[in-house]
Parts: sequence; C-alpha cells; structure tokens
Amino acid sequence: RVWGMDFGSRLGLAAGFDKDAEILAGLPHLGFGFAEIGTVTPRPQPGNDRPRLFRDAAGSALFNRMGFNGLGAPLVSQRLSAMRERLPELFRVGVNLGKNKDTPNDAAASDYVLAASAFEGLADYVVINVSSPNTPGLRSLQSAQALQPIIEGVNQVITGWKKRPPLLLKLAPEIQGVELGEVMHAAEGWGIDGWVLTNTLAGTRGNLSGGWSGGPLTERSRSVLIEARRHTGLPIISVGGILSEEEALKRIEAGADLVQIYSGWIFGGP
Ligand code: FNR
Repeated sequence: RVWGMDFGSRLGLAAGFDKDAEILAGLPHLGFGFAEIGTVTPRPQPGNDRPRLFRDAAGSALFNRMGFNGLGAPLVSQRLSAMRERLPELFRVGVNLGKNKDTPNDAAASDYVLAASAFEGLADYVVINVSSPNTPGLRSLQSAQALQPIIEGVNQVITGWKKRPPLLLKLAPEIQGVELGEVMHAAEGWGIDGWVLTNTLAGTRGNLSGGWSGGPLTERSRSVLIEARRHTGLPIISVGGILSEEEALKRIEAGADLVQIYSGWIFGGP
C-alpha cells in the first residue's frame, strides 16, 4: 500500500515500454502490479529517426534514442479509458508526461499541463518526466527555476480533479549530491508526492547520443536511491538496472517502496 493505494505487487513496468497504453491488459498476467504508460506528450510526434534502439546483450544493456514517439495525450487517454475497467482491481496505472520536441523550454509548463489535463480519473499516479536525454534541452528543466512552473501547473490541474492522484517527479541518474537534495527539497515544496529514480544514463554508442539502461545503470541507480532516502520520507519508485530478484530486494531494503523494470524484462523475460 503506497500513497493510500493498494498495489498487487511492488514490481512495475517502467515508462517507455507501453508508451501509448497498448498492452496494459496483458501486464498483470506477467506478474506486474503496476505499469507506467508514456512518456505521453500533448500532441502526437514520430520520435527520432531509426535506428533508435539497440541491445548489448553481453552487458544486459539497452541504448535508446527514441525521442518520445507517441500518439499524443488525447488518443492515449481514450485508450486508457477503454482499457481501465478490464484491469484487475489491484493493478495500478501511472501516467508519465513529457513535452513535445518542438515546444521551446520556456513554454514547457503548458505542455505538461495540457498532457496532464487529458487524464482525469484515469491515472493512479502522474509523473513529470524531465529526465529523458533524447529530447533536446529536456534535462535542463531539472533546475529549480524551470521546474517550479511545471510542477505548480500540473499540481493545479490535478488538484482540480474529483480525486487528486499523487504527483511524482522522475529524475536523471546524473543528479546526485547537493544538487539532488536541493531539487528534492524544492520540488516537494511545490507539490511533489514521490519520486521515480532514475531515468537512463546519458551517453553515446558509436556516433549516436542517447541513454543507457540495464547493467550500466545498476550501481548508479542504487546509489541515487540511497542518497534520496536520506533527503525524503516520501515514497520512492526505484528503477534502473534491476536485473535480478536480489537487486530488487536490495532496493526495497534501501528504502524503495516500489520498483520498476525495463531492461531486466527484455533480457530475462517474464
Ligand atoms: C525508456 N525509459 C523511459 N523513461 C521515461 O520516463 N519515459 C520514456 O518514454 C522512456 N522511454 C524509454 C524507452 C526505452 C527503449 C528504454 C530502454 C527506456 C527509461 C525507463 O523507464 C527506465 O527509467 C530505464 O530504462 C532504467 O530502467 P532499466 O531499463 O535499467 O530497468
């Protein structure tokens, strides 16, 4: 039970797999207790050119430069609405929000607000994602100055709903130390109720830039969780390089309330 809601399992599917809410109905049968759909942008967009997703099986690593390909909030919310009643009672759905590529950073807040507005009554929790390395400039939204209007804007939208879902912030694994403490403290003051830690590690593969997940992220994601736990008593979803049951248990012992996987599922299967 987290944020006063029951989860069928602490294990969830991380954002970016079911971006458009296409496979939700199958996920409970694979053992997931929750799933985070998205990232959903307000308008549809194609994402980056292919190839944009690579696997390095030896290191259980994925490298992606997808760039928020998706159908956009109006269609995804319709899908979710049609699907929700078929999901088990204890299966929770989070909605992860982003901005469109062609929206300038100084107008980012209105994109997050617009995307959020499509999901009243449909999201068990809402995530503000400012940590993808694949939308130019997105990660600079992780500064306090840029975050305030985004968090306050989305918080205002969901506070107007009949039932306000918890609002989470998903950060990059590069945010550590003093910076992490400062961002967390500020964000909780603006209405954040919990954390998704972490997104992919920014890097390159050949001459392409993108984000690493899986094996290369295990240690970093775990250490960010441990640090974050010193800064907050709010719920944390730990994600990044969880490739075994043992690692999942380590995260829970380190203070994670829930865990998510993406790469571990790709390489380990159901
Ligand atoms: C992602 N991830 C991601 N995160 C997010 O917040 N929004 C997104 O749209 C995506 N898209 C996405 C696509 C692909 C192909 C991958 C591999 C990953 C990041 C994901 O949710 C997770 O934070 C990282 O993958 C780390 O977890 P794992 O893969 O190490 O278990």
